[in-house]
Amino acid sequence: MKRRHLLGLRELEPLEILEILDSARSFREVLDRPIKKVPALRGITICNAFFEPSTRTRVSFELAAKRLSADVLNFATTGSSVSKGETLIDTVRNIEAMKVEMVVLRHGSSGAAQFLSTHVKANVVNAGDGQHEHPTQALLDLYTMREHLSRLQGIRVAIIGDVAHSRVARSNIWGLTKMGAKVVVCAPQTLLPPDIQSLGVKTSYRLEEALDGAQVVYLLRLQRERQDGGYLPSLREYARTFGLKVEHLEQLPPETLLMHPGPMNRGVEAENAVVDGHRSVILEQVTNGVAIRMAVLFLLWAGREGTPAVREMLREGSVG
Ligand code: CP
Repeated sequence: MKRRHLLGLRELEPLEILEILDSARSFREVLDRPIKKVPALRGITICNAFFEPSTRTRVSFELAAKRLSADVLNFATTGSSVSKGETLIDTVRNIEAMKVEMVVLRHGSSGAAQFLSTHVKANVVNAGDGQHEHPTQALLDLYTMREHLSRLQGIRVAIIGDVAHSRVARSNIWGLTKMGAKVVVCAPQTLLPPDIQSLGVKTSYRLEEALDGAQVVYLLRLQRERQDGGYLPSLREYARTFGLKVEHLEQLPPETLLMHPGPMNRGVEAENAVVDGHRSVILEQVTNGVAIRMAVLFLLWAGREGTPAVREMLREGSVG
C-alpha cells in the first residue's frame, strides 16, 4: 500500500480496498493454524492509544499486532497524564520518542487521527474518530460480506439505525458504494442526516421497505449516550418500529446476512432470537476483524519500509 496512514475509507481507491481484503484472506488462514503467528512485523513496536472506550477494536488490534510478532503497547487515558492536561499531540509524541513506529488511535473527536498524522512520523491507523470514520470496522464488514456473497458489486445492503451518530455507517457507506454495492439507509427521520443521499445511498423511514430484497441487513447500535437531544420518544418505541424481529427475517432471501458492529443493545436493535439466529455473522465479523487489522498493519508497514523480509514475503505472495 502506497499510503502512510489509514484514516478513512473516503480516501481509499477501490483497488486499495481490494488489496486489503485479499491480504486479509491470507491472514485469516493464519488464524486457523495451530500456531497463529507470523514474523512479518518482528522488531516493530505498535502503540494502541485509546482515548475512548473499546472492547472489540482494542483487543483486535492488540491480537493482530501480536499475531504479526510486533511488540504492543496499550495506552489508555485512565491513569495517564492526559488527566493533567497533556495534549493528544504531546502524549503521542512522547510515546513515539520511545521508538514506537505505528500508532492506532481511537478518539472522541472527529478528525483526530488526521490531525495526529500531520504531527508524527509514525504510521497512524484510525480506530474510530468521533462521528467521522471507523475504517477497519468497515473493512472487516466488507470482507465478511464478500466471503459470504462472493462479491461486493451489486449486492443490496440495508443499514438500519442511528446513522446520524455513526462513524461505522459513514465508513461502510464510503466503502460499499465505492465497491458498487447498492445501499439503503433506514431510521427515524431524526437519526438520518439530511444530506445522506449525497453519499450515493437511498433512504427509507420504513423498516419493511428497506429490508425488501436485502442480502445484508446491517444493524447499527443505538447510541444511547448521544440520545439526550430528544431524537426518539423512547427506546421501546424505537424497538417496536425499527427493531428487527424474526418475522422480518422470514421475508428475506435465505442467503441474507445479519450484521452488527457491536456493542449491541439486545432487545432494541433486534430481538435475541434474531441476534443469535443462523443468519447472524456477528461473531464472524469479530474474527475477521483480526485478519483485517493484520492486513492493514502489514501493508502500511510494507509500504513504508519495504524491508528485505517484507519485500521477500510480498514477492512470494506469502505472509509467513
Ligand atoms: N465495533 C466497535 O468499534 O466496537 P468497540 O467499541 O468495542 O471497539
